Amino acid sequence: MTEAMTAPPLPDRATLTRLTEPQPLRDALADAVQRGLTGPDKWLEPIFFYDARGSELFDRITELDEYYLTRTEASILARHGDALVAAVGPDELVEIGSGSSSKTPVLLDALRASGGTCYVPLDISESALVEAAERLTTERDWLTVEAYVADFHRDLAAVPRNGRRVVAFLGSTLGNLVPHERKGLLADIRTMLAPGDGFLLGVDLVKGEDVLLPAYDDAQGVTAEFNRNVLHVINRELDGDLPVDAFEHRVGWNHDLECVDLELVATRDIAARLRAIDLDLSFESGESILTEHSCKFRLPDLTQELAQAGLCAAQIATDPEERFAVVLALPADLA
Ligand code: AVJ
Repeated sequence: MTEAMTAPPLPDRATLTRLTEPQPLRDALADAVQRGLTGPDKWLEPIFFYDARGSELFDRITELDEYYLTRTEASILARHGDALVAAVGPDELVEIGSGSSSKTPVLLDALRASGGTCYVPLDISESALVEAAERLTTERDWLTVEAYVADFHRDLAAVPRNGRRVVAFLGSTLGNLVPHERKGLLADIRTMLAPGDGFLLGVDLVKGEDVLLPAYDDAQGVTAEFNRNVLHVINRELDGDLPVDAFEHRVGWNHDLECVDLELVATRDIAARLRAIDLDLSFESGESILTEHSCKFRLPDLTQELAQAGLCAAQIATDPEERFAVVLALPADLA
């Protein structure tokens, strides 16, 4: 059966378009493993965390006491979202990496207050888009949803406009990219904006390791499970026999990049085989795999990064403790 035949039906006021035929997970993982696990410096891209179980673990992370990011961003949006969106007065809200669209309702209220009616979620997960379209349109008879299966590294320029737009990129997902990658993505986002449009960016801020590290190393061990889950994904997709329990979750502060690094450390010498791609892997005791950079931002540096991409930080909203920031940037000339 084709995907189209098995996909749940979309509600009336929703459309879904595939800008990307997503590369099969197996092929993408095979590439990543070849590139990242066969040399001396071992690394994997964080996108591979998010199979069904990984997404569920991430949802649990967002509810942990230690993981302040999600609830802090939500509190900023609850307080300032209206004003930030009203400053633009958009016809449509485009959300990059919308996932389950869990923080979208407050922005949709603001969209409506501005007279806008169209929500445009972009995500790599078709099922997440269908579920979000279903839920959001059911609850709002004024809303249309134009969903795109899209890869934000490639497809942003191909999203058609429906008038004045606010483009939102929330959750500090920008922090998964290192500076030269951020430069490319911000430039792509800039091309989506015309005069009068706005860009709403949520980022986690630099703070003490006493707060940062526990957010990625919670007492219940949910983040450790989330981190190790990438090894389950590899075993399942590539018919592997990696001994998942022989890898330990480790977090550390990376001073050079100002990010929290997640790693998986081999607790003994390990030999494993990925039968689907005929590949042998080996790890020495103590050797680590870098699985995620989660970069933290300083507002003056971020403002400059934005300016270099032709984006002017017009308004910055933070929580009282300045843990997190939501920035409204407007298109400007390149700095
Ligand atoms: C979704 C990338 C923002 O970096 O905080 C949470 C992912 N990793 N715990 C983050 C994550 C471990 C999260 N982002």
